[in-house]
Amino acid sequence: MADIVEFAFMAGMTKWVTQAYETARSVMQFGEFEHDADKRHLIRAADVSDLRRMAKRRMPGGCFDYIDGAAEDEVSAERSVSAYHRWQFRPRVLRDVTEVDISGKVLGETVPIPLVIAPTGFDRIAHSQGELAVARAAERAGIPYSLSTMGTRSVEEVADVCSGRKFFQVYVWRDRELMADLLKRSAACGYEAIMITVDTAVLGRRERDVRHGFSLPPKLGPDTIIDGLLHPRWLLDFLSNEPIKFSNCEGATGGDGGDAVALADYINSQFDPSLSWDDIEWFRDRWDGPVMLKGVLSPDDAKIAADIELDAVIVSNHGGRQLDGAPAPVECVPAIREAVGDRCEVICDGGIRRGSDIVKALALGADSAMIGRAYLYALGAAGETGVDWVLNYFVEGMTRTMRLNGVRSVADLTPDLLERI
Ligand code: FNR
Ligand code: LAC
Repeated sequence: MADIVEFAFMAGMTKWVTQAYETARSVMQFGEFEHDADKRHLIRAADVSDLRRMAKRRMPGGCFDYIDGAAEDEVSAERSVSAYHRWQFRPRVLRDVTEVDISGKVLGETVPIPLVIAPTGFDRIAHSQGELAVARAAERAGIPYSLSTMGTRSVEEVADVCSGRKFFQVYVWRDRELMADLLKRSAACGYEAIMITVDTAVLGRRERDVRHGFSLPPKLGPDTIIDGLLHPRWLLDFLSNEPIKFSNCEGATGGDGGDAVALADYINSQFDPSLSWDDIEWFRDRWDGPVMLKGVLSPDDAKIAADIELDAVIVSNHGGRQLDGAPAPVECVPAIREAVGDRCEVICDGGIRRGSDIVKALALGADSAMIGRAYLYALGAAGETGVDWVLNYFVEGMTRTMRLNGVRSVADLTPDLLERI
C-alpha cells in the first residue's frame, strides 16, 4: 500500500515538475549577451530622457551641467521643450499609411529626414571622440552636420572623417583676420554653408557653471579629481586622449583654450559685441555659398534676413543658454514663416526631444528642425553608438507620428494638423 502511495506521489511530482518546466520555458527569454558596453547600455533606453539620465551617471557633474544647463533660471530652456506639449494633433484616419515619406529639404537639397545637427562647442567633454563621432553618425544618417567655431576638433579634422554635408557655425571674432582665415579653411575642406550665430553678443549667465567654477578644458582640482574618480570610465577616456582645446582657434589672441579658461571670460573678450547687419555683408563678400542666421526669434529680424536674401533663418534661443526669458523657438515659427514667406528656409532649433516634435515644428511652418542636447546626451551616454541610436529614434518617431496622423509626406504637414491647447 505504502508503495502505491509513494508511486502516485512521485508520478504527481514528475508531472508537476514537467509542467512547471514547460511553463517557465515558455515565458523565460534570455537574449544573447551583448559584448559591446555602449550597445548594452542602450538596450534599456527608450527615449532622450533615458539618454540624459545615462549621460548624467557617466559624466562628472561639472561637464554634464555645462551641457544640460542653461541661462539664469533656465525658464527658456524648460519652455523650449514643454512648448511642444501645447499643441495637440488632429489626426485623420483611413488614409493608407503603408508608405510614409519623411524626407524633406535643407538648403534646397533632399535629406532623408528634415533634421540638422546643431553646432555645439566642446563635444569632447562628453566623449573623447566628440565632434568626430557626431559628424560620422550624421553622415550615416544622411543629415547635415554643423561644426561650432568652439569645436574641440578643427574644420579639417571633421572634414577628414565626414564626407557628408557640413555647415560651419561662425562666432564673430573681434579678430577679423582669424575669421577670414577660418572661412577660407572651411571652404577649402568642403563646408557647404555658414551659420552665423547672432544671439551671443555676450555669453549668457549659466549659473550651474558659476557654481561649479567650470572651465574649459575642465580643470583637475581636488573636487574635480574626486568627481572624476567617481566617474572612472569618463576619466579614463579623458586622460587617455590628447588635451582638449578650441581646435579652430589656434593663434587667437586670447589663446586656444589649451590653458583652462572660464568660458564667459574667454567669449566676452573674443566675440565682437558690435556685430550688426552691416557685418553680414562682410561675410557674404568672403563666403561663396549659402549663409544662415542662427538665433532669430523676431519676425521683423527674419524679414530683414529675407530682404537681404540670406538663405535660412534658424529660429533659436540657443537652447535657453543665452537670454533667459526669450520665447520658445517653436512658438515663434508661425509668425516667422509668415514674415519670410518662401524667400528663405526656416529651421526650428531648440527643445526637440521626439520625432513628434519635428512633425509639430514642420506643421507650424518650419522646413526642418535642429537638435543639440538630444545628441549630446546620446554621446555622453554611449558615444558614437548612442548618436546613431538617437538619430534612428528620431526617424522612427517621425515616421510613426505621421502614420498615426494619417499623413504620408512632409509636404502634407500643414497648420491644420495641430490645435493649440
Ligand atoms: C550649444 N549651442 C551652440 N550654438 C552655437 O551657435 N555655437 C555653439 O558653440 C554652441 N554650443 C553649445 C554647447 C552646448 C553644450 C549646447 C547644449 C548648446 C546651441 C545649439 O546650437 C542649439 O541652439 C541648442 O542646443 C538647441 O537646443 P536643444 O536642442 O539643446 O534643446
Ligand atoms: C554655449 C556656447 C559655446 O552655448 O555657444 O555654450
